[in-house]
Amino acid sequence: MRWGALITAAAFISPGVNAAGATLRFSCSQLVVERLDPLINPGLMGSPHLHQVVGGDAFNVTMDQDLPTTASCTSCTPTEDFSNYWTAVLFFKAKNGTYHRVKTMGNPLGFGTASGGMTVYYLSSGKVTAFKPGFRMTVGDPTFRTAAQESKYSSLIYTCLATASTRSGSTTGFPKAPCKVGIMVSIRFPTCWDGKNLDSPDHQSHTAYPSGASGGNPGAGDKCPSTHPVSIPQVFFETYWDTSPFNDKSMWPDNGDQPFTWSMGDATGYASHGDYVFGWKGDALQRAMDANCNSDLFSNSINCPTLKTQSLAQANTCNKPVQMKEQLDGWMPSMPGDVVVH
Ligand SMILES: *[C@@H]1O[C@H](CO)[C@@H](O)[C@H](O)[C@H]1NC(C)=O
Ligand SMILES: *[C@@H]1O[C@H](CO)[C@@H](O)[C@H](O)[C@H]1NC(C)=O
Repeated sequence: MRWGALITAAAFISPGVNAAGATLRFSCSQLVVERLDPLINPGLMGSPHLHQVVGGDAFNVTMDQDLPTTASCTSCTPTEDFSNYWTAVLFFKAKNGTYHRVKTMGNPLGFGTASGGMTVYYLSSGKVTAFKPGFRMTVGDPTFRTAAQESKYSSLIYTCLATASTRSGSTTGFPKAPCKVGIMVSIRFPTCWDGKNLDSPDHQSHTAYPSGASGGNPGAGDKCPSTHPVSIPQVFFETYWDTSPFNDKSMWPDNGDQPFTWSMGDATGYASHGDYVFGWKGDALQRAMDANCNSDLFSNSINCPTLKTQSLAQANTCNKPVQMKEQLDGWMPSMPGDVVVH
């Protein structure tokens, strides 16, 4: 069952409700949009599809560097977080077959002045073990095109925003009708770890979902399997895509299909995926989780005295030059990497 939307809504209503756990919530402005994927395609200048990336500016074609010492800034508001977080990029496909990139926007619930990027959460219910330096993982599969395939993952959902705070009616595929404010893409990672491996060949099998998991926020009933006994924080991305420039129904396909596609050519939405490379300085994340920090869910208040923070304006100044020079704006015959819907 997918209670994600319901539970997220509950969390928005009562910020302090998760008293036995942490709800760390903060903004990470857009660091760079480019065709690099140091996790899946390390060393490859020009990964198969385009990504939008947030976090520390040590992000590069390979990710074996020590992020906290290599980065000079972070686009996230906690200044000890040099992690990198990335997702695919949304495109609009016009009737004439050309594509236009959709931009991210600052989350209107507290982070409206962020220069795009995403809202990042670290959630827990009870004691969790923070990630170790070098830890990385992905969730979701860019090759999936059906709901049955996608059901392997517990909570990769879309919310069609009638207002900035719409939290009902989420779907696992793309919304079928125009969304007034935009489309919110929620990506939650598994919360159990094998306790040994910082990565695995598929970047996923060192992590697992707990039994009893709701698909939403971690809960007291979650139990990690014996193969993956260590409870880790739930990493959760929310990205607000500003689809409003494309809401004119006359621009939509005549056959009733929706017009959006991910940068890897997925027009179903079932290929939503996220990538994470841990890069917090020292024990900062462990301290925040141990302190059960519970952010104010409507403002830019991280409400966590153990963490040092910067303003959204400061976070916006952390950017990285695009290394892969190619067209990213305007109408184009295919998406970067010559990707078309398939
Ligand atoms: C990124 O990696 C490339 C290739 O290893 C290297 O030449 C470049 O200096 C790196 N850039 C930054 C900003 O770290
Ligand atoms: C394709 O469609 C878009 C959206 O209607 C339009 O702005 C663009 O000029 C068109 N491009 C071509 C080559 O016809």
